[in-house]
Amino acid sequence: MLAMNYRGPFRVRASHKPDPVILHPEDAIIKVTRSCICGSDLHLYHGLVPDTRVGMTFGHEFMGEVVDIGSDVHKLKVGDTVLVPFNIACGKCAFCKQELYGNCHESNPQATAVGGIFGYSHTAGGYDGGQAEYVRVPYADVGPTVIPEGMDPDDALLLTDVVPTGYQAAEMGGIKQGDTVVVFGAGPVGIMAAKCAWLFGAARVIVIDHLEYRLEFVRNYANCEAYNFESLEDPVLFLKKTTDWFGADVCIDAVGSDAAGNALQTITGRKLLLQAGSATALHWAINSVKKGGIVSVVGVYGPTDNLIPIGNVVNKGITIRANQASVKRLLPKLIDHVMAGRLNPKAIITHRFPLEEVADAYHMFSAKLDNCIKPILIPPSAK
Ligand SMILES: NC(=O)c1ccc[n+]([C@@H]2O[C@H](COP(=O)([O-])OP(=O)(O)OC[C@H]3O[C@@H](n4cnc5c(N)ncnc54)[C@H](O)[C@@H]3O)[C@@H](O)[C@H]2O)c1
Ligand SMILES: [Zn+2]
Ligand SMILES: [Zn+2]
Repeated sequence: MLAMNYRGPFRVRASHKPDPVILHPEDAIIKVTRSCICGSDLHLYHGLVPDTRVGMTFGHEFMGEVVDIGSDVHKLKVGDTVLVPFNIACGKCAFCKQELYGNCHESNPQATAVGGIFGYSHTAGGYDGGQAEYVRVPYADVGPTVIPEGMDPDDALLLTDVVPTGYQAAEMGGIKQGDTVVVFGAGPVGIMAAKCAWLFGAARVIVIDHLEYRLEFVRNYANCEAYNFESLEDPVLFLKKTTDWFGADVCIDAVGSDAAGNALQTITGRKLLLQAGSATALHWAINSVKKGGIVSVVGVYGPTDNLIPIGNVVNKGITIRANQASVKRLLPKLIDHVMAGRLNPKAIITHRFPLEEVADAYHMFSAKLDNCIKPILIPPSAK
């Protein structure tokens, strides 16, 4: 089959690999009809995630058709069209039972933090992902969800990660009626977090980024204020000033380890790898939230240490909430929002690439060329 193939930082290509096969009675094989590239893939692409092995196929946002099932799969059948949450979860362990599907204890047994994730290095279990024609999906009765009749496939595709992650970012912020919410990052995740903040009762939503085209998009799409941090002398000071010097009620980090905006963080986090990525947006979030406020972190960081202002967290009495999104927990509610038209995820898709052009797609999304917000990949067998 044709699959994305990681060759080292900034080098990916499409090449032929053996078709995946059923390895366990609870596996299914999915023929992929669409997959996305995510900001999380960029951390891999930029070489920021430990144990990202040459030869791995990335891709944790995909949908497709069930073409084979193991002998112990009962809820899916061959021919079903499914969306597949990015978390690989067993559904039975102590953490899955608490609906912490991003923290499954079985799918990534070598780790004590994250559970398994498709195509996300050996720190997340070493599973090949869905930027391919076929993918093996473990615990097939747990994650894969049959796409409801009438749902646009592009919307379904974005329910595998971006929509639940944006929604959970807002949810973890504990947003109350009348709150001011600041979202750092106007990528697909930040855009969705801004949109979802309104669903929880926010009265004011402010987005910070430095890419004008994304600020323009989020202003229209999420009906919010949006500012370019490069044109602000100090984004923290600006945010305090615009909130009567109180700070925001809730700040959301939807940037993670590839953050720009602070030379020291960039050099130590992204160039020298002395910390697990640049923590600039998290810094700004902690410093611009009000005393007693909540900082919600969905931006991804590596497993080692980061330079963050923990003294300010203590002295301001801030609550930090963070996690990988628990996609399966949120799906019923989010399917409802999409079917009722309250969320329109597919509007963020700006580019479609044949899988053969995966290298160009990564380059465009990474370098933020051609006003790219969300690129999707179409395998040749799906055309
Ligand atoms: N927790 C989860 O479950 C989960 C799921 C999906 C994605 N993520 C993470 O969410 C983050 C965003 O993903 P995405 O797909 O939107 O990525 P993206 O790369 O498209 O967007 C990131 C945006 O942040 C902006 N940015 C850079 N530095 C900034 C700063 N200092 N302040 C404000 N904005 C800044 C960039 O210009 C860009 O627009 C990534 O870290 C990704 O790994 C987490
Ligand atoms: Zn993703
Ligand atoms: Zn589990």
